[in-house]
Amino acid sequence: MLVRRSFTLIAVPPKPPSAPALRPGQGKRPLKTLDRVLSKTGLGSRTDARSWIGAGRVRVNGKVIQSPDHWTDLERDSVTLDNKPLSRPERRYILLYKPKGYLTTYRDPQGRPTVYDLLPGVDQFVGQVGRLDLDTSGLLLLTNDTQLAEALTNPDHKVPKTYLVKAANLLADDQLEQLRGGVELKDGPTRPAEVKRIRDSGKYTFLEITINEGRNRQVRRMLEAIGSKVLKLVRTRLGTLTLEGLTIGKWRDLDPGEIAQLKRNVRK
Ligand code: URA
Repeated sequence: MLVRRSFTLIAVPPKPPSAPALRPGQGKRPLKTLDRVLSKTGLGSRTDARSWIGAGRVRVNGKVIQSPDHWTDLERDSVTLDNKPLSRPERRYILLYKPKGYLTTYRDPQGRPTVYDLLPGVDQFVGQVGRLDLDTSGLLLLTNDTQLAEALTNPDHKVPKTYLVKAANLLADDQLEQLRGGVELKDGPTRPAEVKRIRDSGKYTFLEITINEGRNRQVRRMLEAIGSKVLKLVRTRLGTLTLEGLTIGKWRDLDPGEIAQLKRNVRK
């Protein structure tokens, strides 16, 4: 069955302790809470896992466990859901060229299309790495590798994201300079950005902006902070990934070399 739910980092239920617990006398083997172990298998979200656990459908070493906080080690413990043993899911790394008009959430109360409508046949639980606004198009990575997703979206790792911007008017050099130096937003100043003027065309300036943080609607708010507005926004790059070879609305799996390179992006 297709299980599609975002583990978008904003929407993830409370995390277990950040430092993994160690079993007494066990050396290096990390323990995880039972809800996390279940969600990491790709069968569903942590909220789903908590409801299965609460319903008595989950056994650890043959015993029904109804506490989601039960410390578990998938290598040592035998865990079953509805008497079926759990195993680790295949890792998926999906690169999608998101069109505008698609939400980067799993379910929309208003029934609007979501990026998951563009992924028929993907039967793993893949979450989005960061978000793109409804009106933004471009590169979106989706994966069930939660560790890599968290690392890529952690601003401390400064993973660059590049956007093409069509501004609503012609921008002066000093406005571009303001973007480069950082502008004041209501959640604090932005970090220095790389900004290139691509061209001025009629009444509009086209820019390329590279930022290494990923705040909500950041590029749109940066343009507003210099007295302009975004008319069109396309993400063209995330770390070493680009849209090359993809057409709008299509997706592909990353190859092992691309995955290894992406992991190096966060190790720097
Ligand atoms: N910045 C924005 O303003 N919107 C996006 O979708 C991505 C970056």
